[in-house]
Amino acid sequence: MFETLKERPADGILTLMQLYKDDPRPTKIDLGVGVYKDATGLTPVMRAVKAAEHQLWETQDSKVYTGLAGDPAFGDAMVRLVLADAVARDNIAAVATPGGTGAVRQAFELVRMARPGARVFVSDPTWPNHLSILNYLEMERVDYRYFDEESRGVDFYGMIADLKTAKAGDVVLLHGCCHNPTGANLNMTEWQAVVDVLVETGAVPMIDIAYQGFGDGLEEDAAATRLVASSVPECIIAASCSKNFGIYRERTGLLMAVSQNAEARKLHQDTLAFLNRQNFSFPPDHGARIVTMILNDEALRADWMAELEEVRGNMLGLRSQLAGELQRLSGSDRFGFLAQHRGMFSRLGTTKDKVEQMRSENGIYMVADSRMNIAGLNAETIPVLAKAIIDAGV
Ligand code: LMR
Repeated sequence: MFETLKERPADGILTLMQLYKDDPRPTKIDLGVGVYKDATGLTPVMRAVKAAEHQLWETQDSKVYTGLAGDPAFGDAMVRLVLADAVARDNIAAVATPGGTGAVRQAFELVRMARPGARVFVSDPTWPNHLSILNYLEMERVDYRYFDEESRGVDFYGMIADLKTAKAGDVVLLHGCCHNPTGANLNMTEWQAVVDVLVETGAVPMIDIAYQGFGDGLEEDAAATRLVASSVPECIIAASCSKNFGIYRERTGLLMAVSQNAEARKLHQDTLAFLNRQNFSFPPDHGARIVTMILNDEALRADWMAELEEVRGNMLGLRSQLAGELQRLSGSDRFGFLAQHRGMFSRLGTTKDKVEQMRSENGIYMVADSRMNIAGLNAETIPVLAKAIIDAGV
């Protein structure tokens, strides 16, 4: 029977990971998959994570199942981290999921269950896996303008105009902070305008927040999500702990559904638990438990926040170094956007051919759409990348 299976389109980011691995050149530079790396190229286990794991190893005396929603303490801690007191806790349903991707998948399924014909508005561009999952679930999608190829900032007026075409019963997928793949983000005044459109149209926002703490700070990066969640009657939020806790392979995420009252919340909670049961039953616990321990312990939390700030500062430093080097080489400010972008990624804004040229000639691996993982750089590789960009005529 399995001969009927068809080849699936390869995931561009994962394919690039493999190409990089297979490249024997010692000078190769990996700016592909969204994983934080320090100056030595390592993705370290964060200090607070190590400490919490140690404590857990000493104290955990059972690995019996948690609940379908995961440990409620994880939900509480993450709801506080993401939403603070923007919405009454009683109105928020929350389930642990296998990573942020798991939360995205469950969110789309929730939408499909509630509204089989719902259209999902997505930014052009968005994280390719959003599109892939929507396709897989056979859900209709509408692209809204987002990236301005000229300024490499947000095409705000295009975005607003396109979002105005959404209707009640549609869903608008937004990146809470650190837009992936572009690095271009709305300011808070622009977010308010997006909220006004959501209220006007009645479309339901779905926020994917996978990089809280990587942009302007933990609180600052959650501000837009809090604004949206406190301004509309219903909203869905997919949060990831992969990057800000550096626990990628532990698959730790949370799906939140914000509703108007405790009664709606119960229905959401039961439905989300049902969806977990159908798809994987109990969500993974190890990462969630580590996150809970860190968030609920003053000393661990302080240490985690300090290290996260270092990570954020490093990325900002790399951004300004790269922008500075490009300014020096090009004699122009046209790469200034790299210092304005936030998060791990920046879309350089060049052609697939030039991306390929930089890969073959200079061993620089960026995603075909010219997304670069800024965290993949260091003081030595910045001049190499800058020169390659100029040589390629970007
Ligand atoms: C990325 O965009 O590189 C990350 O979110 C990793 C992934 O799963 O694609």
